[in-house]
Amino acid sequence: MALAERLTRLGTETAFTVSLAAAEWGAKGNRIYPFHLGDLDLATPSNVVAAMDRAIADGKTGYCPAAGIAPLREALAEDIGMRRGLHYAPNQVVVQPGGKPVITKFIQSVMNPGQEVLYPNPGYPIYESQIEYFGGVAKAYRYLPTATGFSIDLDQVRSLITPATCAIIYNDLQNPIGAESTDAEREAIAQLAIEHDLWVLSDEAYFEMRYSGSSKSIASLPGMQERTVILYTFSKKFAMTGWRLGAAVGPVEIADTIAKLNTNDESCTTHFVQYAGVEGIRGDQSECLAMLDVLVARRDAAVEVLQATPGITVSAPEATFYLFPDVTDAMAIVGAADLPSFAEQALHATGVSFCTRRHFGRPQPGEDRQYVRFAYSGIGIDDIRAGLGELQQWIASRQ
Ligand SMILES: Cc1ncc(COP(=O)(O)O)c(C=O)c1O
Repeated sequence: MALAERLTRLGTETAFTVSLAAAEWGAKGNRIYPFHLGDLDLATPSNVVAAMDRAIADGKTGYCPAAGIAPLREALAEDIGMRRGLHYAPNQVVVQPGGKPVITKFIQSVMNPGQEVLYPNPGYPIYESQIEYFGGVAKAYRYLPTATGFSIDLDQVRSLITPATCAIIYNDLQNPIGAESTDAEREAIAQLAIEHDLWVLSDEAYFEMRYSGSSKSIASLPGMQERTVILYTFSKKFAMTGWRLGAAVGPVEIADTIAKLNTNDESCTTHFVQYAGVEGIRGDQSECLAMLDVLVARRDAAVEVLQATPGITVSAPEATFYLFPDVTDAMAIVGAADLPSFAEQALHATGVSFCTRRHFGRPQPGEDRQYVRFAYSGIGIDDIRAGLGELQQWIASRQ
């Protein structure tokens, strides 16, 4: 007996190896400062939890429609449309068990084997995994460092498009970089999509995880709503990562296809969890907003210490809960030949645990700077100061 050949093309999130290394080091009695977790250590808002309890008590425990319960589809259509200056009808919203399933269902809906899909690298590793798993050609586009952060290499995007390209995956408010497109960059991606008649998956997992200003969606640009599927998730805004609730939002023809995939895959998203989602959208959001205050204070604390650390350059993104510092010079100071050994040395010398650029895709030719990702979503402000303080002292002591 053999396993299916296509499994050789299935990727994963290699960041779990970082959790393992941290757990092993911690099990030996060492202090760990967990900056590797892309999860939140904050509680789901109490009104959302109460709504789930009520839904269970009301017997919302059986199957429900594959595309989601009507009150949630209506609430999401209104809320997502309102925040983007667009109109969505409820039949354009298909509820999912989290944001992640939107990636696989989008790819299954728009891509034939042999077709090409462009995706960001560094980026969320599941894009590449799913494109290749379904027999497509995954074509990575890169980010270039700028004075204030990062920008997409638009020339490269342009050069990667061929007649076989069917879609581009675009993650504005980006994991792991924290980057946000300028209007001009978003418009350039949109123009390329229109010119080459491409579908767009707009991964907007962090759309509402921002500390100032307001987020913009590529779907809001002229000619884009009809070719864009938005990945929406409750995971971040409502600290609901383990509840598994999200949605695909886009043209009716794709929404219908995705609903059919739901029927085949999971029948429906957990019924009572969807009522919690309705409360999240329609109910009091004061606890969500308080979470942003906690996160921005953590960001500021982390940036302050990192900016004062020899060999580290970091910018402070206005969105997401990630920092993506350039550690090339710090690696030289401590004598680390590559990112894995830098991460290991840092863990053993200071207890600070983090993912590196390599957990977010294969490095591309010409990349000469080295980056790591610090997530400040799963670690309190005192531990941020203590852990990064240790890191700072360790690097300074090796100068
Ligand atoms: C960019 C991006 N897209 C999608 C997801 C998936 O989120 P969910 O937990 O809702 O499946 C994540 C999760 O970290 C993410 O960072």
